[in-house]
Amino acid sequence: MSGIVELPLLGLGTWDLRGEACVRAVRDALEMGYRHLDTAQMYDNEREVGRGLRAAAVSREDVFVTTKLWLDNLTEAKVAVSFEESLKRLDAEYVDLLLIHWPHSSVPLEETLTAMERLQATGRARAIGVSNFPTALWKRALSLAPVEVNQVEFHPFLSQRALQAFASERQLRLVAYTPVAKGRVSRDPTIVEIARAHDRSPVQVALRWLTQQGVAAIPKSSSRAHLEENFQSSELVLDEDEMHRVSSLARGLRMVAPDWSPAWD
Ligand SMILES: NC(=O)c1ccc[n+]([C@@H]2O[C@H](COP(=O)([O-])OP(=O)(O)OC[C@H]3O[C@@H](n4cnc5c(N)ncnc54)[C@H](OP(=O)(O)O)[C@@H]3O)[C@@H](O)[C@H]2O)c1
Repeated sequence: MSGIVELPLLGLGTWDLRGEACVRAVRDALEMGYRHLDTAQMYDNEREVGRGLRAAAVSREDVFVTTKLWLDNLTEAKVAVSFEESLKRLDAEYVDLLLIHWPHSSVPLEETLTAMERLQATGRARAIGVSNFPTALWKRALSLAPVEVNQVEFHPFLSQRALQAFASERQLRLVAYTPVAKGRVSRDPTIVEIARAHDRSPVQVALRWLTQQGVAAIPKSSSRAHLEENFQSSELVLDEDEMHRVSSLARGLRMVAPDWSPAWD
């Protein structure tokens, strides 16, 4: 991989979308114009994401698909085997981006990344990257392999200043998960006020705040109306003062913090 990974700034997150609801959400999103889907081995929905993709009137090559290797699958042998299973479930020839879902405390990073680079060399993982990697660990990963994307929790209540500075210095990409703080942005008075001024919704303001900084966002929704609303956030333009006001809401609110989390920045 050379150069910056080209990934659409707005994608569909699929955590917790299961069964026919997942197939429908993926198909509807693609038909509305989404071209970026985010799944993971752990979400237990790769099959449904693949079905939704095939049900939509879009070509596979026009859609950016990400999946993630779960913690149990980071040894050399398991990377290859579990990735084959992911492709089978997705019924796809390749994914656009394969991520390490979380850093592992005992499997050496070198081992996982070497196995992932092998997959990348075959073209079946077009790009490789990481998720939930703090800056120092991402830096180390980059000294081993071209992991140009890091997917992390990022929304108005959680700053990612250190990662953003590092990403911009090295021309890397951040993808924001939980970008609307699971709906909490709708209750913030500052965001509500900015939204009113534009006759838009608070969720649209939160998403645009991310994408206007060049950070990709992958909100999850099972509702057609929310999918549309989220996609249309790209029509909004926030001025410098509004961007600054949203940035000033950061208060270290981390909504995804399992026991195996690394030491964050
Ligand atoms: N790499 C990782 O470790 C990691 C961790 C967490 C998440 N992720 C990824 O990031 C994606 C998004 O994160 P998330 O699902 O945790 O949180 P999120 O996208 O911030 O929030 C999802 C929640 O917000 C609601 N919502 C979405 N659009 C809305 C709108 N326009 N108005 C009002 N409510 C709205 C959804 O409800 P409705 O369904 O009713 O619209 C859902 O309850 C996940 O699906 C997953 O793909 C990755």
